[in-house]
Amino acid sequence: MSEQVKKFIRVDHAGEYGAARIYAGQLAVLGRGKHGDTLRHMKAQEQVHLDFFAGEIASRRVRPTVLLPLWNFAGFALGAVTAAMGPRAAMACTVAVEESIDEHYKAQEAALDEDEAELRGTIAKFRAEELEHRDIGLANEAEKAVGYSLLSRVIKAGCKVAIRISEQI
Ligand SMILES: [Fe+2]
Ligand SMILES: [Fe+2]
Repeated sequence: MSEQVKKFIRVDHAGEYGAARIYAGQLAVLGRGKHGDTLRHMKAQEQVHLDFFAGEIASRRVRPTVLLPLWNFAGFALGAVTAAMGPRAAMACTVAVEESIDEHYKAQEAALDEDEAELRGTIAKFRAEELEHRDIGLANEAEKAVGYSLLSRVIKAGCKVAIRISEQI
């Protein structure tokens, strides 16, 4: 297995871990509200994504990122803080994060060769679900959040940095 594939698995594991923590943070604030079931649905899908990459980490003996404790905290905090700003801000967070993941997975699909066709197929399937999450965010008035474009830009920039360093360390 190439170093590149190892990097992909490390960063995807980190990302799905962070995503599950974001939805956990949102649920801590909004779990009893009208979006509770929607958030639980998305969190359950992130858990499937996370379980898959945790399995790849184990079976391929890839070292996970040392930053998991940070993503544990930062993911939950991002979810809880945006949720505390209101359901629209929570959905704006979802849109920004899922768009970042979509781009990230799209680039990986393009980079993976036939010898990793199965992994590529799984990433494509997950990416379709991330786009579903983005659409759920948009359908729930993400764009009407106060300060949407700033919020979106800040979160996307954060995702980029998180992806970059989770590939490396
Ligand atoms: Fe995911
Ligand atoms: Fe997602």
